[in-house]
Amino acid sequence: MPEVQDPAATRLAEHTTLRLGGPARRFVRATTDDELVAAVTAADDAGEPLLLLGGGSNLVVADEGFDGTVVQVATRGITADVDDGEVSCGGALVTVAAGEPWDDVVAHAVARDWAGIEALSGIPGSTGATPVQNVGAYGQEVAQTIAQVRTWDRHDRAWRTFAGADCGFAYRWSRFKAEPDRYVVVSVTFQLRAASLGGPVAYAELARTLGVEQGQRAPIAQVREAVLGLRAGKGMVLDAADHDTWSAGSFFTNPVLAAEQVPEGAPAYPQPDGTVKTSAAWLIDHAGFAKGYAVTPDAAASLSTKHTLALTNRGGARTADLLALARAVRDGVRERYGVELVNEPVLVGCSL
Ligand code: EPU
Repeated sequence: MPEVQDPAATRLAEHTTLRLGGPARRFVRATTDDELVAAVTAADDAGEPLLLLGGGSNLVVADEGFDGTVVQVATRGITADVDDGEVSCGGALVTVAAGEPWDDVVAHAVARDWAGIEALSGIPGSTGATPVQNVGAYGQEVAQTIAQVRTWDRHDRAWRTFAGADCGFAYRWSRFKAEPDRYVVVSVTFQLRAASLGGPVAYAELARTLGVEQGQRAPIAQVREAVLGLRAGKGMVLDAADHDTWSAGSFFTNPVLAAEQVPEGAPAYPQPDGTVKTSAAWLIDHAGFAKGYAVTPDAAASLSTKHTLALTNRGGARTADLLALARAVRDGVRERYGVELVNEPVLVGCSL
């Protein structure tokens, strides 16, 4: 299996969208499922700490790096079983290798009129990461279309395939996130509809951009373009020249609170169980952390100038700078509103 020896290439800053993180002690690149499982098993046999690396878009790695084996999931492949619609309702069962870049999958589906993931356009990262935190945006989340997830169970040392209904999906949550050291996602199978028209547009801002009423449908190619535009406006589409995109996307999840805990004037999205989801970005903004906020004027980490929920590296930042910013924001929101923000990215070798 190819072990990467070049010290520069084993620095995790080279592999994370925040461009932060020190070196890995050992760095292995797996390009097939068998290589992936062999690398994981070798580390487990040796009792060696293991970090699985996909697109690096949801990782905050310590400046000290990772004292163990990093396995880069570099598997590729999209295969589809397409029903022509003559007999049943038609659709595509699309199986994607974990290492496939997610937005390539969305583009592939939209180009073939396979509907169901178009609102998830422009999200950085790899496909194998999407079930772990049930990636969602603009009214869709992968839980709605995942038919099954194939995994390697490090605990039982066996292949295990979970049907979508058995993945424990909730807002930014799954059984894979609940047991972070157990499952290696190897491939994900999506059940998509054969349709050029998307489902009802659920997100108000997206409906406005498309010029339709909330709940109406729009062509999926237009949905993709509209989402890419909205995301770019918020600095949420990767662009090496734009430091606002040197981030891990939303740094905190949106808090789900008892209705009476939601601050006056904050966005409120009632949940089926009677709780209310509010907006972390709003809480941050109204606690006094405006777009572009930094702990000190010359700090190399700041809030994005386009969205308060993205913590960004302005170039030359260290992980310690980013963590100091995250702590200031978290503590400020707690003091102002009594709400404890929870980080969405995985912290490796560091904590808030
Ligand atoms: N807002 C502010 N200040 C800002 C930005 C936003 O006050 O600088 C307030 C506004 O009231 C706005 C509200 O926050 O209406 C919500 O903002 P937005 O519509 O941008 O969505 P979000 O809740 O901040 C979530 C996801 C994003 C996803 C968008 C669109 C989470 C943690 N974040 O953001 O996902 O793209 O909705 O669906 O659920 C990610 O998870 O990494 C991510 C980018």
